[in-house]
Amino acid sequence: MKKLTGHIFLIGFMGVGKSSVSHELSRKIEKSEIDTDKYIEEVLKMSIPEIFEKKGEAYFRQCESKILLRISQLSPRVISCGGGFVMNEMNVKKMKRMGTIILLKASPETIYERVKDSTDRPLLNGNMNVEYIAELMKQRMPVYENAADVIIETDGLTPNDVAQKIDRLV
Ligand code: S3P
Repeated sequence: MKKLTGHIFLIGFMGVGKSSVSHELSRKIEKSEIDTDKYIEEVLKMSIPEIFEKKGEAYFRQCESKILLRISQLSPRVISCGGGFVMNEMNVKKMKRMGTIILLKASPETIYERVKDSTDRPLLNGNMNVEYIAELMKQRMPVYENAADVIIETDGLTPNDVAQKIDRLV
């Protein structure tokens, strides 16, 4: 079992493969994992689209910040963060004190292929095309890159390949 000094936060755009990499990595380094979207869904007993629809995006963002407090009280683990998690500067400040932030990157085309048949991402519903993904990614990338301690390009790699790279780093 790896002796981690802090959490490993996986960040990046929707559909980049954070959850799949998290599963592989958590198995490899024998640490439990938390998926921030799933955590919020379990606490609120609602799906992400339902939360956006009934409570609004701002409320969802508040939930993301709240669960960081809970995460800060836990032993080191792998945290798969929703794609907008680090768009909040305070979240990033706290995460930097709590562990290592790893940005997973992929091209808009790769992302599109991964998300095109899904309807569980409210921000992409009605915007499911490469152009929209590329534009939102361009807007977010400076924030993602600024938050990241490590950046991994994942195009052409399996979740296991990516987990292996991270395992060598931590
Ligand atoms: C979002 C990403 C989603 C989810 C929500 C909003 C975003 O998570 O948190 O739909 O703002 O990028 P994934 O990155 O796991 O798809």
